[in-house]
Amino acid sequence: MNRITLATLIGLASLVVTARAQETGELKCFYTGNPAKPGLNVEYEGVTYGFCSEANQKKFQEERAASLYQRIGGKGAINAAVDLFYKKVLADERVNHFFEDTNMKRQHAKQKEFLSHALGAPTPWTGKDMRKAHEHLDLREEDFNAIAENLVATLKELKVDDKLIEEVVAIVASTKKDVLNQ
Ligand code: HEM
Repeated sequence: MNRITLATLIGLASLVVTARAQETGELKCFYTGNPAKPGLNVEYEGVTYGFCSEANQKKFQEERAASLYQRIGGKGAINAAVDLFYKKVLADERVNHFFEDTNMKRQHAKQKEFLSHALGAPTPWTGKDMRKAHEHLDLREEDFNAIAENLVATLKELKVDDKLIEEVVAIVASTKKDVLNQ
């Protein structure tokens, strides 16, 4: 091998090493925020998560496997559910008037983000708290029940297991006091 080829190879190798170091150097541990250790990354739904210890990497994998979010089918299932859910809500004359002034494209995106987080996805909720998001709507118990009914009908139509539907309903029910500003 001549000297130029060897020098080029060494140069290329060091570029790859530098690029890797930068990649991992930027990653923070999902749990602690400390720099992530190379080799402990986990790919989840197209996102790379970094960890500072094997224990935290294992914890993340166990949490994902146990999450209702993953058991229900992850991103694909949430996207399908929210899209069908708002179709039903907008066709429901008991509650569709509440959404007259709502940007529904944004609402779909927000609801997907909220439900994913609430059901145990590793992604954050960046919107308003449920009390603030609904305080101007003057909602009653029957409005909440109509929305919950549409959600259950959606999940049944998508053939989600009854046991999992119960778990989703329990999580949604836990927002009731805030949504109704009680
Ligand atoms: C059942 C539990 C409920 C959950 C989990 C929920 C979730 C959400 C979320 C995540 C947002 C977006 C907040 C943001 O923009 O940051 C939102 C907004 C909204 N929700 Fe709910 N919601 C619930 C119940 C209801 C009910 C019962 C109604 C009416 C019948 C309702 C009507 C609305 C409307 C109209 C908006 C948009 C407000 C605006 O455009 O400013 N929600 N909700």
